[in-house]
Amino acid sequence: MLARGFLALACCLLPAAANVTVYFQNGAVTDIQPGATAISTAISAQYTNDAAFNNVVLVAPPLPSPAPPQQFTIQLQQSAASVTGLSIQQSGAFYGFSIEFSVVTQVVGANSTRLFVPFLNLMSLIAERAGHVAIRVGGNSQDTATLVDSLPDNEVMEKDKLDTSNPTQTPTLIFTPDIIYMLNNVSALVNIGWYLGIPMNDTTDLRLGIAEVAEGVLGDRLFGLQLGNEPDLYAGHGHRPSTYGPFDYFGEFGVVIAAIANDSSIPVRNNLIAPSVATGPWTPEDVWNTGFIPAYTASLGALAVEHYPDDNCAAAFPDAGFGAPIDPQTIFSNYLNHTAGIAIVAPYLNSTNIAQQAGKPFLMMETNTASCGGFPGVSDSFGSALWGLDYGLQMAYSNFSGAMLHVGGTDDTYNPFTPPPTNQSQFHQWSVAPLYYSALVMAEALGPTNTSQIMDLQANAGNIYTPAYSIYESGTLARVALFNYLTDPSGASSYTATINVGSGGPAQVTVKYLTAPSVAEKFNITWAGQTFGGLLASDGRLQGTYSQQTVTCDQSANTCDVQVPAPGFALVFVSGTAAQDANPASTATFPTTVLTKTVNTVTVDPSVLATSNGQSGMDRGALGSTSKGSAGAASPAVVAPAAAGILALLAGVGVLFEVYRRV
Ligand SMILES: *[C@@H]1O[C@H](CO)[C@@H](O)[C@H](O)[C@H]1NC(C)=O
Ligand SMILES: *[C@@H]1O[C@H](CO)[C@@H](O)[C@H](O)[C@H]1NC(C)=O
Ligand SMILES: *[C@@H]1O[C@H](CO)[C@@H](O)[C@H](O)[C@H]1NC(C)=O
Ligand SMILES: *[C@@H]1O[C@H](CO)[C@@H](O)[C@H](O)[C@H]1NC(C)=O
Ligand SMILES: *[C@@H]1O[C@H](CO)[C@@H](O)[C@H](O)[C@H]1NC(C)=O
Ligand SMILES: *[C@@H]1O[C@H](CO)[C@@H](O)[C@H](O)[C@H]1NC(C)=O
Ligand SMILES: *[C@@H]1O[C@H](CO)[C@@H](O)[C@H](O)[C@H]1NC(C)=O
Ligand SMILES: *[C@@H]1O[C@H](CO)[C@@H](O)[C@H](O)[C@H]1NC(C)=O
Ligand SMILES: *[C@@H]1O[C@H](CO)[C@@H](O)[C@H](O)[C@H]1NC(C)=O
Ligand SMILES: *[C@@H]1O[C@H](CO)[C@@H](O)[C@H](O)[C@H]1NC(C)=O
Ligand SMILES: *[C@@H]1O[C@H](CO)[C@@H](O)[C@H](O)[C@H]1NC(C)=O
Repeated sequence: MLARGFLALACCLLPAAANVTVYFQNGAVTDIQPGATAISTAISAQYTNDAAFNNVVLVAPPLPSPAPPQQFTIQLQQSAASVTGLSIQQSGAFYGFSIEFSVVTQVVGANSTRLFVPFLNLMSLIAERAGHVAIRVGGNSQDTATLVDSLPDNEVMEKDKLDTSNPTQTPTLIFTPDIIYMLNNVSALVNIGWYLGIPMNDTTDLRLGIAEVAEGVLGDRLFGLQLGNEPDLYAGHGHRPSTYGPFDYFGEFGVVIAAIANDSSIPVRNNLIAPSVATGPWTPEDVWNTGFIPAYTASLGALAVEHYPDDNCAAAFPDAGFGAPIDPQTIFSNYLNHTAGIAIVAPYLNSTNIAQQAGKPFLMMETNTASCGGFPGVSDSFGSALWGLDYGLQMAYSNFSGAMLHVGGTDDTYNPFTPPPTNQSQFHQWSVAPLYYSALVMAEALGPTNTSQIMDLQANAGNIYTPAYSIYESGTLARVALFNYLTDPSGASSYTATINVGSGGPAQVTVKYLTAPSVAEKFNITWAGQTFGGLLASDGRLQGTYSQQTVTCDQSANTCDVQVPAPGFALVFVSGTAAQDANPASTATFPTTVLTKTVNTVTVDPSVLATSNGQSGMDRGALGSTSKGSAGAASPAVVAPAAAGILALLAGVGVLFEVYRRV
């Protein structure tokens, strides 16, 4: 929502050559110590004004009284057919990301030939587990964004002025088609599908350029086009008259559909996403009651909302009349129980049902812990990782079909990942926040088959601190997700769930843990023993030694006892296939629309997507080559022209960061 922008960084590019050799800096990983507190403190001290690098560590809430029972049974059925109330079938790509349009050149890439490798690595991890990643590029900035053919000095985006009429102070921006080429070039490396937005600030003077270019360039990698971003806030933000209501939005929507129908450069006409209400002044029902769905069903690819459960606007805009700032410590506990996700989802249950009847997916297009930047110490705590996972599973259980975690700028504490400030980009890497782990674990929890069905088990007699979900895949019990929201360093608040899997239970199950010492922890977080490390310490790859637990089950009783630490999350893989899917082979294979035409697939050593943190990559020696020619198999002539873009890009990977400033 709020974005004043990341400072830019870029990875420099080697000239494309027939033989493409990918260089890798040996020190890239070993130089970085997970949880390097000394570094964190030093950097934080320099960036106290950037919310994204704040060093606020809260106190974990006290243990509840009475304490939840520490031993309980979860009775399950092996077959989905025996379970009432399961969700619709879900994809492992359920959690995607929403990137504020104005920061896309700080997060995704500088332009179509300079992509940010930590971003590619982070997305690749999810794509390997889920099959693909869904990313929305938009936000407040989408409604005034304007596509132009070119900008001076080869710039691809210009954010020269703040739209002062907008309380979220999102910059208005001008961009060139290169931004869309950049997204397409990313999709050639990692299977990402994109949601974009058609600007709607002025439907008497439409700017459909983004739809024209995106459909032409992205093809089926364009997942949809939002038309309207939080239209219920248009009046409040001064972008429409104060009388602006759902029927006005309905009318404007029709105007744009007519214009699209009249535009031969927009051949796909059934991919609009709406109404994306913030669920502030309007409920989704207010829009449904206009007859919106039947009127526009042929144009709609998905129905959608956007929502944040709280806001930090008073602190972010002290003079804007929001009242006294909220002390993050006082609302920390709001994120640390099972009611949190349920409460956000409740107002949408009618709509997910309506969407199913209309045959449309229902998406949460933009969400995070709190709007206006999030709460320092909350939005970037391990508690937010548990919150994000529980909320994500709750949305999946409630028949949403996907949700995008918002990435704003350096003024935001809630970014799942944040690039370094400009003048640190030669020395430091990215910060990966707890919320990214939610998305990663979600991908493993739902898997790659698009058949996962989720059940909120209301475990432990519905205790709000120890929720659990079962996940069925292809009709069979595949995984169980177990949460413990409590923080108790003594170990006394861990619990044991006795999972009864019904008849024919397995001899053993695999368990992976998401852990940290406290819900207040910011960086010392591990998933199956691996971490992205501390502040500005990640190249987007998991570091450390992978570790999973094997629990031997009691096959006569069909039970498996699984312990969950306080705090912690356990993903129990009941089926062997589910466990395998969550451990992608160490070699990443990238199916690409371009390369499949000539080489079937391009297989890239994982190190190809590893960035270096600078300096001397070029003399460290080659680890891999992406050129088919170099394997002696074929001449470069068979590589399609467009593929040269990919090879050129890969040539730049891991070589050197250079710093430049974008004004
Ligand atoms: C690739 O590099 C090798 C070794 O430098 C060279 O022998 C070969 O001719 C090159 N292949 C192409 C297609 O340029
Ligand atoms: C991409 O950005 C880099 C760094 O600003 C620049 O050197 C390069 O020319 C740009 N490429 C294109 C195609 O604009
Ligand atoms: C809509 O946005 C464009 C681009 O920023 C701007 O030029 C135009 O004045 C805006 N229209 C209205 C009605 O605000
Ligand atoms: C459709 O396009 C034609 C030709 O460009 C134009 O005259 C007409 O006004 C357009 N109609 C709409 C509804 O945009
Ligand atoms: C669901 O939404 C429809 C359409 O707005 C409305 O008519 C109906 O009363 C709602 N049902 C519930 C239970 O809120
Ligand atoms: C649990 O979370 C809900 C929703 O955020 C909050 O209203 C409630 O106060 C929390 N309960 C406790 C006991 O902290
Ligand atoms: C989700 O959809 C399924 C299938 O229509 C339905 O049985 C289930 O009750 C729905 N869940 C919720 C929470 O609405
Ligand atoms: C980086 O920039 C910040 C803000 O301008 C400044 O305080 C800091 O000293 C700079 N650090 C370095 C290493 O140049
Ligand atoms: C899952 O769904 C996505 C998006 O519709 C599709 O591209 C992919 O092929 C599907 N995967 C499987 C295994 O069916
Ligand atoms: C990190 O957390 C683990 C427990 O999750 C703890 O054993 C370890 O001491 C912590 N390390 C640091 C550096 O805080
Ligand atoms: C990458 O972007 C450039 C535009 O700058 C384009 O020429 C090239 O074909 C793109 N590559 C792919 C694989 O899309």
